[in-house]
Amino acid sequence: MSLIEQAAKRLEELRRAGVEVPDDASVATAAQATPSILERAMSAERTHGATVPADAPAPASGGREAPPHPRSGDGQAGVPIGATQSRAVTLDLARLSAAGIITPDAPRSQIADEFRIVKRPLLANASGKGAARVKNGNLIMVTSALPGEGKSFSAINLAMSIAMELDHTVLLVDADVARPSVPRMLDLEPTKGLLDVLVDDSVDLRGVLLKTNVEKLSILQAGTKHPRATELLASDAMNRLLDDMAQRYADRIIIFDSPPLLLTTESPVLATHVGQVVVVVEAQRTPQNAVKQALAAIDACPVKMMMLNKGRAASGGDGYGYGYGYGYGH
Ligand SMILES: Nc1ncnc2c1ncn2[C@@H]1O[C@H](COP(=O)(O)OP(=O)(O)OP(=O)(O)O)[C@@H](O)[C@H]1O
Ligand SMILES: [Mg+2]
Repeated sequence: MSLIEQAAKRLEELRRAGVEVPDDASVATAAQATPSILERAMSAERTHGATVPADAPAPASGGREAPPHPRSGDGQAGVPIGATQSRAVTLDLARLSAAGIITPDAPRSQIADEFRIVKRPLLANASGKGAARVKNGNLIMVTSALPGEGKSFSAINLAMSIAMELDHTVLLVDADVARPSVPRMLDLEPTKGLLDVLVDDSVDLRGVLLKTNVEKLSILQAGTKHPRATELLASDAMNRLLDDMAQRYADRIIIFDSPPLLLTTESPVLATHVGQVVVVVEAQRTPQNAVKQALAAIDACPVKMMMLNKGRAASGGDGYGYGYGYGYGH
């Protein structure tokens, strides 16, 4: 069966299942999503009420997206995580949108539609609505086998997409502490963050969170550079922090942008503490063997999902089109 057929089959299964996770949710299948496949899956999703257009009234249950209402960056509006002490930052939404990032201002873009499909099973698991109960399902790590496959791009888009849901608040964590990309991609000044919390007991998590002008989206930056950054990420302190996050922010989705699995030790360790791992695979580039090794490295994680990034559109195009396909289950 070709990759595209596999993708179609998976999406069809998903549709029939009302976008729920199979009992033995385990590994996924990478497949290139063609526009037609995505289109079918999306229309099926709408039929089942799993997602609605951002400007439509919210259904009684399932994923509901908030109407676009970016908050002013004055820090006075309701803040989901660490309300009283977090710093406010203003994301340049027009610039982000031009760079291909989902924003509340452009809820109907192609990429926004693609991430509606990608996020649905992740949210079902996180909120315990999947068929199987997933421990720490609200902790979602975005990774890949190798550098440059689109981890940060995908993590940011996933966070943005979920932040547009009525039911979910999101914390985006830059866990690529050696080479953080979030400040560059979101045009933020690097600030204190994850590493500072790990090395200094007196630094409170809430104090270093950044609340953004996208309502429901907060950011934890990688933090002050540290010579033992990678060890810190695999340390007991990090494990405790993750457990704390999973419990304290149980109703929040926490997305980790992380380093490549095959080139770092901390990434596979991080994967053992999160409930769900999204593995980005770059179309036409990531060797199959690297994908296999990456999956082996995160074997212990209960839910693994694969996304094919930069897939060539079936209709042709310049080859740098956008396509996310995914498989789920076994
Ligand atoms: N689907 C996409 N469409 C357009 N641009 C993309 C897409 N995916 C990734 N990119 C771009 O490709 C480049 C590499 O992506 P990104 O930084 O997200 O990769 P990464 O896996 O996080 O890399 P690293 O391992 O170095 O952290 C970035 O400039 C990003 O904006
Ligand atoms: Mg990155």
